[in-house]
Amino acid sequence: MGKFDIKSMPQWDYLEKSYNQIKKFHLRDLFKDENRFSEFSIQDDNIGVTFDYSKNIITTDIFKLLIDFAKASNVNEYAKRMFSGEKINWTEKRAVLHTALRNRSNTPVYVDGKDIMPEINSVLLKMETFSNDLRSGRWKGVTGKKITDIVNIGVGGSDLGPKMVCEALKYYSDGPNVYFVSNIDSADIYEVLKRLSPETTLFIIASKTFTTLETITNALTARNWITEKLGDKAIASHFVALTASIKKVLEFGIDKNNIFKFWDFVSGRYSLWSAIGLSIVCSVGFDKFVELLDGAHYIDQHFLNAPYERNIPVIMAVLGFWYNNFFGASTHAILPYSQYLNRFPAYLQQSDMESNGKTINIEGDRVDYDTGPVIWGESGVNGQHSFCQLIHQGTKFIPCDFIGFVNPLEKIGDHHEKLMANYFAQTEALAFGLTKKQVINNLMAMGLSFPDIEFLASHSVFEGNKPTNSILIDKLTPKTLGVLIAIYEHKIFVQGVMWRINSFDQWGVELGKVLANVILPELKSHVDNKHDSSTKNLIGIFNSKKNRDL
Ligand code: F6P
Repeated sequence: MGKFDIKSMPQWDYLEKSYNQIKKFHLRDLFKDENRFSEFSIQDDNIGVTFDYSKNIITTDIFKLLIDFAKASNVNEYAKRMFSGEKINWTEKRAVLHTALRNRSNTPVYVDGKDIMPEINSVLLKMETFSNDLRSGRWKGVTGKKITDIVNIGVGGSDLGPKMVCEALKYYSDGPNVYFVSNIDSADIYEVLKRLSPETTLFIIASKTFTTLETITNALTARNWITEKLGDKAIASHFVALTASIKKVLEFGIDKNNIFKFWDFVSGRYSLWSAIGLSIVCSVGFDKFVELLDGAHYIDQHFLNAPYERNIPVIMAVLGFWYNNFFGASTHAILPYSQYLNRFPAYLQQSDMESNGKTINIEGDRVDYDTGPVIWGESGVNGQHSFCQLIHQGTKFIPCDFIGFVNPLEKIGDHHEKLMANYFAQTEALAFGLTKKQVINNLMAMGLSFPDIEFLASHSVFEGNKPTNSILIDKLTPKTLGVLIAIYEHKIFVQGVMWRINSFDQWGVELGKVLANVILPELKSHVDNKHDSSTKNLIGIFNSKKNRDL
């Protein structure tokens, strides 16, 4: 592939000109068109999803230009290459096949000439058998007791995905309690283990590489905790491993029958569909896990086959690109109006920021445009009572996604209507705001007199024109959760293609790991170190104060 600059694409130029034009308009003006919602929304009754993107700062022409940009970037061709097992992760020379893990049609998928579906299906079967045994009590701890508690030890993709899904599907959980330990800070494992009994606890050690310092340190602590109470023979009934590195697991001492394999073609942050999902399966049962896979598979087909103009991940991606590269938006907020989805923003932080936080393009050159935004958020309505002030009236421009559900899982009083009234109100307020004239009328109606009105009016103005997407789903089920996650996965993929970066490597996490390994011995024995004056002095203070009773 020759040198190529996306800014030299004619669509870039047109979009820049369009940005200068659209700046003069407000969403209030754009909504004078009565057909706006029908033009800029998608309703899919097969999965019970409405995607409303009408409250974005776009016109018909701008939308067409954005879609043209995605077409000119060959998104669909890249997607086909990904789904067919081509090694699109070019820096690690790996295929990217999380889509094969949920390939419910079971059509062959080849990596290096070998169909990988039989192996994927055999691991799924092993997960089914194991989870049935565990949940029914056929699988017992070494003293013959049923396992009541599971601790998943992993970090990054080996933690965030299964933790988010277990939390999201808590309502459906009828299996053992599931805990997650990820931090190397001993507080994490200490606070979990203090409530549990070794006789009834199973550890799932989740690590693709089985070398990650955090995970191996926590796994060793867990192993000591088990063997001190129950002896070495307990390891076989209290530890299982989820990994792509079988040899390292065997060295650690976990029984070979207790290994659930996944593969190099699954990136950590896209791995919840693989054996990494074992904690999910134990919590909600295998059938519900399959429903999750079904939902994601549905979106895989939608992504591959729907025209760009009706393709939800493509549309989300081009809108994000529009704000990121032309409006200068450096962050994007995610607000799920569901307590069950409270880990969703944290999950997306890894999947999006580890994927698209890159500076070097496919030619190995530094890009001269912005790539992945900062992803952040919180469940609504909690966000409204913390950071939403800034989104409404601050100086930053922050596009947001609002995710809501038509039906609650538990109907208690009018909680859900009150929750959803806020969901609808936020996007309306963000889009249309409140003019000074409206503010003055409101204050007058409240009986305020004029000096007070004058004093308060400018503070109470909402400029509006803040773009949002609304994703409104009939109900939170394993299937619709699979749909939602896959939509975001493909959105991230499309943006990576448009920015011409590798969304599937993560070299940026390496340097910190290397330096931590250099520093660790310096904290254990007071050796002279060769760091910069700041790091050197901080380490010196740490070493001189540690173990002192402060
Ligand atoms: O944070 C870096 C990373 O490599 C992630 O990409 C990955 O999800 C995480 O560490 C955990 O890696 P592993 O599963 O190999 O322990």
